[in-house]
Amino acid sequence: MKIAVLPGDGIGKEVTAQAVKVLKSVLGPSATFTEAPVGAAGLAAAGVPLPAETLALARSSDAILFGAVGGPGDESGPRDKRPGLGLLTLRRELGLFANFRPAFLFPELIGASSLKPELVEGLDLIILRELNGDIYYGEPRGISVNAQGHREGVNTMRYSEPEIERIAHVGFRAARERRRKLCSVDKANVLETMQLWRETMARIGKMYPDVELTHLFVDAASMQLLRAPKQFDVVVTPNMFGDILSDAAAMLTGSIGMLPSASLGDGNKGLYEPVHGSAPDIEGKNIANPLAAILSGAMLLRHSFARKDDAARIERAVRSVLAEGYRTADIMQPGMRKVGTVEMGDAVVAVLRSA
Ligand code: IPM
Ligand code: MG
Repeated sequence: MKIAVLPGDGIGKEVTAQAVKVLKSVLGPSATFTEAPVGAAGLAAAGVPLPAETLALARSSDAILFGAVGGPGDESGPRDKRPGLGLLTLRRELGLFANFRPAFLFPELIGASSLKPELVEGLDLIILRELNGDIYYGEPRGISVNAQGHREGVNTMRYSEPEIERIAHVGFRAARERRRKLCSVDKANVLETMQLWRETMARIGKMYPDVELTHLFVDAASMQLLRAPKQFDVVVTPNMFGDILSDAAAMLTGSIGMLPSASLGDGNKGLYEPVHGSAPDIEGKNIANPLAAILSGAMLLRHSFARKDDAARIERAVRSVLAEGYRTADIMQPGMRKVGTVEMGDAVVAVLRSA
């Protein structure tokens, strides 16, 4: 089992170290972990956000454990020097088009949710975000000077039918394994690309008569997610809307620090990362929540290595440290025991060792 570890920037390094520690305690010597720089770390090491050696390592590995990327320069300067491009290039180069972001509320964290307990009790939904298309990658793009002499920015929302079809199939199959409900999010009332998205979802849906398909415009979807999130089972979204809705969904589970993710393609290879960013403001303080990274490690075992039991063991261990009262600052509540990033990782490992 060859695992590439790409910690990236900011708290990415801290939380990934905890996830590696947990995976090592479960896998023993059967797995190798090889680290490489990406994001701002890639820029510092090789002048590009995704150094060639890092991409080669990712290609030759069975799975990729990813931290977070981002830092100064993310929102300005040339596109090819932005840390985030490292992640975007990896997703596309490896054909990882299906991004699972499961928003699951641990009962112990019900008080930490941004919503009232009765609205989130038992919350268990998946945001399935298309990850290789949309305005993130569409051409033409860029900033240029127009005929009036004004600077003008252009990005293009673009989806081909096959791209929509393949994420639709993933969505319907995922819903089949769960509560058989798929909600497709679009903006078909305004955008032609999204009209094609909706038509294609409906057409593929006929092949899955046992799954209930609904459609929501993205504005209504964000409202329903905050008003009555338990109505959702699998929510399939274009790339950009999924980016936004998944951060919102994370808050329902108590913290952005709780949401893991898996980015999958046609084979077993996957990239696993916490949904949160690099949070440079809290970097190096040992206060970041490592649980989303640790839970991403569980997803890695389940999807890339078919080790369902080990994945479930990690998830149970996370639940039991929460039950024991361990809390990082982001999920801290009265009467609980406040711990740092490393202590939280150690607590999960201790439960795994004793079980
Ligand atoms: C995410 C992140 C990335 C994205 C950034 C870092 C490029 O926000 O994974 O949600 O926009 O996809
Ligand atoms: Mg995001």
